[in-house]
Amino acid sequence: MRKNVILDVDTGVDDALALAYAVHSPELHILGVTTTFGNTSVREATRNTLQLLQMLGAEDIPVFKGIEETLTGCTTPDKTTWIHGENGLGDAQLLSTERQAEDMSAHDFMISTVHKHPNDITILTTANQGNLARAIQKDSEIIHLVDDVILMGGAVTVPGNITPYAEANIYHDPEAAQFTFQSGIPMTIVGLDVTLKTLLRRTVLDEWRGKDTPLSCCLADMCNFYMDAYAKIEPELNGCALHDPLTVGVALDSSFVQTKTMTVNVKTTGKEKGRTIGEDNPNGNINVCLDVDVDRFVEHFLNRVNP
Ligand code: RIB
Ligand code: CA
Repeated sequence: MRKNVILDVDTGVDDALALAYAVHSPELHILGVTTTFGNTSVREATRNTLQLLQMLGAEDIPVFKGIEETLTGCTTPDKTTWIHGENGLGDAQLLSTERQAEDMSAHDFMISTVHKHPNDITILTTANQGNLARAIQKDSEIIHLVDDVILMGGAVTVPGNITPYAEANIYHDPEAAQFTFQSGIPMTIVGLDVTLKTLLRRTVLDEWRGKDTPLSCCLADMCNFYMDAYAKIEPELNGCALHDPLTVGVALDSSFVQTKTMTVNVKTTGKEKGRTIGEDNPNGNINVCLDVDVDRFVEHFLNRVNP
């Protein structure tokens, strides 16, 4: 039986890899994709998602736009052009599409979909927690109807990436993260603790270019840009981390990771803003990923992302 999922993204190069991995995974039934800001604006993340789904032949998957402000009504951060390019996809060129996002908002789509599939739905978020926080604020019943929220975000046992303390997805809307983490909704945190161990090597790009399909060339172009950005901060890496794809990996096979049950708090102010502080708690609602079977996951990802 397929697993019902909603993907919540700020597409984004590694979100694009996660989307391709998910669309090519027959075990997943993607009921819709919701968008938010982070790597780029909501408008561009939505456009990128629609264009990517077209390229993936998945135009039947509806897309729902999030709100262009944080949970507390602050303006959104500047897009991270040097990591994800001017267009959010490493400046790779994608065909334009006439398709638009649906009229319903991202958080309303989450609410209605959870009610249609009670106890049979997993939400994968690879961006800030704003859409989920708004959904829970509007209808807290969904807390008890969701199987799991698997999120890329946080750095519980390692330093941050956007500041020495904070991981980018949490930093972009720390109040939203703190709200969802304290809500009691079941969660699996796929943070930098594990994602930085999963590496896509630059040598893969030549293989992808060799395939010479629109998808393989596009993925190679966007990852080349992303890896160049990584090279500026971690020159010895010779590749990039598979942050968002690991979230999809965990939805497909939870044995890719080892977890510990915790409560997690988020610092919302000061120099540690966005920091995720975990505390062991066998009765907590959050499973924090602490280790990953790197080789098995990366092989699985590579077999799926660009068939
Ligand atoms: O810190 C990595 C995360 O921030 C990824 O989700 C990336 O796409 C950005 O959103
Ligand atoms: Ca992302």
